Amino acid sequence: MTNLGTHYAAHVAQLQQRTKQVLKRENLDGLVIHSGQEIKVFLDDYGYPFKANPHFKHWLPLTNITNSWLLVNGEDKPTLIYYQPVDFWHKVNPLPISYWNEFFDIKILTVASEVEKLLPYDKKGFAYLGEHVEVAKALGFSAVNPEPVLSYLHYHRAYKSAYEFECMRQSNQLAVKAHLAAKAVFMAGMSEFDIQQTYLKTLSYSENDTPYGNIVALNENCSILHYMVLERNKPSDPRSFLIDAGANFHGYAADITRTYAFKQNKFAELIARMDQLQLNAIDGLRPGKSYVDLHIETYAEIGQVLQEFDLINVDANIAVETGIVSTFFPHGLGHHLGLQTHDVGGFMADERGTHINPPAAHGFLRTSRVIEANQVFTIEPGLYFIDSLLAKLKDSPQASMINWQNVDQMRPFGGIRIEDNIIVHQANNENMTREAGL
Ligand code: GLY
Ligand code: MN
Ligand code: MN
Repeated sequence: MTNLGTHYAAHVAQLQQRTKQVLKRENLDGLVIHSGQEIKVFLDDYGYPFKANPHFKHWLPLTNITNSWLLVNGEDKPTLIYYQPVDFWHKVNPLPISYWNEFFDIKILTVASEVEKLLPYDKKGFAYLGEHVEVAKALGFSAVNPEPVLSYLHYHRAYKSAYEFECMRQSNQLAVKAHLAAKAVFMAGMSEFDIQQTYLKTLSYSENDTPYGNIVALNENCSILHYMVLERNKPSDPRSFLIDAGANFHGYAADITRTYAFKQNKFAELIARMDQLQLNAIDGLRPGKSYVDLHIETYAEIGQVLQEFDLINVDANIAVETGIVSTFFPHGLGHHLGLQTHDVGGFMADERGTHINPPAAHGFLRTSRVIEANQVFTIEPGLYFIDSLLAKLKDSPQASMINWQNVDQMRPFGGIRIEDNIIVHQANNENMTREAGL
């Protein structure tokens, strides 16, 4: 914690600076940032799990407080309007006493609808940032999530502060602890559901506390990229285990994947080779390089892996040129990571938000931006045996380039993904996931 406190002042100073810049550019007086409010299920009086506005939790580690507001203008001490109702139906969160308190002028709001009294009287010159457009309009804001303001903030969010690095190291440490516990119960033959319970229990998490829905897949299910089912029965023949699961710390996500083989076999060898490939990709993450180029280089190395493992009977180059590799690696190499698992700003070439699409052949890639120091990425190459994609390939002119018998041997294992979280520093990369012991 002390480390966090040390870096926090500089973090806030940086946000103040960015706010000042964007307000000046857009001719505004201030930003009014809404944490959000509970969203009710249609025709029901129960709400969905609350997720705070990322622009709100960028400033301070309050991730579960509804109806709260930040007023910032880049010059004055920011105001925090903290919602603390008198409510005998729900647990009320008192204001936490923490290192960040002194950076805000804190006002307590007891009745959500009375926030108006604490907001600027004249809304002209103030932009509302948040999800509830109808609330903003009712309060009299005419500038609601102005696109130039969001673009500026999203572009700069890719550059993380030392405070944010520390938060993400912590979220990685949490996730790694749970990954290790999950691996142990896979090796004990447990079901997907029990592995998930072990993961959550290790972190004292409920399902809503993870940054994204965990993927916990055994055997063939490892081939389903967003597998969300949790099979309750133990596998009769455990072969493989893919777990894509994260953790949160102060609103910052970890996003980590591992794949394990139950026995030492060909699939285990393929995992070891993919691990090497993933480390090669991480090594290629360098300031000044385009993430698109790194993806394309890794794509080519997957072609080599297909050749080395006799999954194809043509040269790796042919597998790349014909696009066969996409059958086995149908997603992007990774993405920006931070307040959101798929963090914003990945397609922006500049602070105006000029959008750059990834090349058409790699349309699923989530960033087209040049890699720079202080950015945080996932690197997550995969190699899968996906029935629907293999069926399409079998029906194509390239079908004869595949050693189907070897491919069929791998189908029962589903596939492999290995995902780490990396800080790009000027002089080196910091693999937070491996340094946390995974
Ligand atoms: N867990 C989502 C992803 O890896 O992008
Ligand atoms: Mn992931
Ligand atoms: Mn990811």
